[in-house]
Amino acid sequence: MTSHRYIMTSLRSSPFVLFSCFLGAVILAVLSSSSISGAKASEDGSCSNKVLPCGPANFTFYLHNTVYNPAVDNQDSFNSIYGLPPNISFPNPFNFGVMNTFEDPLTSGPSINSAPLGKAQGFYLLDSFNEYMLFHVFTANISVGDYTGTIAILGQVREVDSVRYLTVIGGTGAFLGARGVATNRLIDIDHTPPAKWTMSFELDLYY
Ligand SMILES: *[C@@H]1O[C@H](CO)[C@@H](O)[C@H](O)[C@H]1NC(C)=O
Ligand SMILES: *[C@@H]1O[C@H](CO)[C@@H](O)[C@H](O)[C@H]1NC(C)=O
Ligand SMILES: *[C@@H]1O[C@H](CO)[C@@H](O)[C@H](O)[C@H]1NC(C)=O
Repeated sequence: MTSHRYIMTSLRSSPFVLFSCFLGAVILAVLSSSSISGAKASEDGSCSNKVLPCGPANFTFYLHNTVYNPAVDNQDSFNSIYGLPPNISFPNPFNFGVMNTFEDPLTSGPSINSAPLGKAQGFYLLDSFNEYMLFHVFTANISVGDYTGTIAILGQVREVDSVRYLTVIGGTGAFLGARGVATNRLIDIDHTPPAKWTMSFELDLYY
């Protein structure tokens, strides 16, 4: 008790206490000015108590990608194409810095012949020096079925991983404001030029 009181007394007039008071005043000033601007923002309508409508909690689609390959010149049957590689003279075994733009059909089942759902438009960027790593950024436009709208997805597809987790960052229509996880798996790949693959995306969504 005594030592506690001693500490309190000695603190009372120390530079530390003076500084703490000053800091407290600054924090109060900042807090009150931000609460004023917060009140202003809600009057202007930029802040509201709106609640997102509920969309589907789960949604699965299959994406089918066929790369354009100049060697076989499949110009009538491709849906993704590589941009120019970086202009470098040293080896680049995993095509670091190369972008592929795609407009891929989406289906409700793993076969390209299963019910169509819409398409995925976006790109992936090869973003590792040491392995095949495809950073995907795309919009899944679901235009057929019970739920229509778009879903914005981004995340890494690391080729060696059997399961990859991408981020659902938003949506429109039935998927308005959706957030969550897109669990991605490679279903099928054919390396024969032109390369073709099918991937599944199982979405776990929150609104
Ligand atoms: C690639 O870089 C070299 C060396 O800087 C340059 O001479 C050449 O014009 C560049 N090629 C292209 C297609 O930009
Ligand atoms: C989604 O696809 C439908 C059908 O093709 C089209 O009408 C709509 O404009 C597309 N939406 C977006 C955001 O691309
Ligand atoms: C939705 O997906 C998540 C993650 O895969 C799973 O845990 C959950 O059981 C699914 N819910 C429904 C209703 O299918």
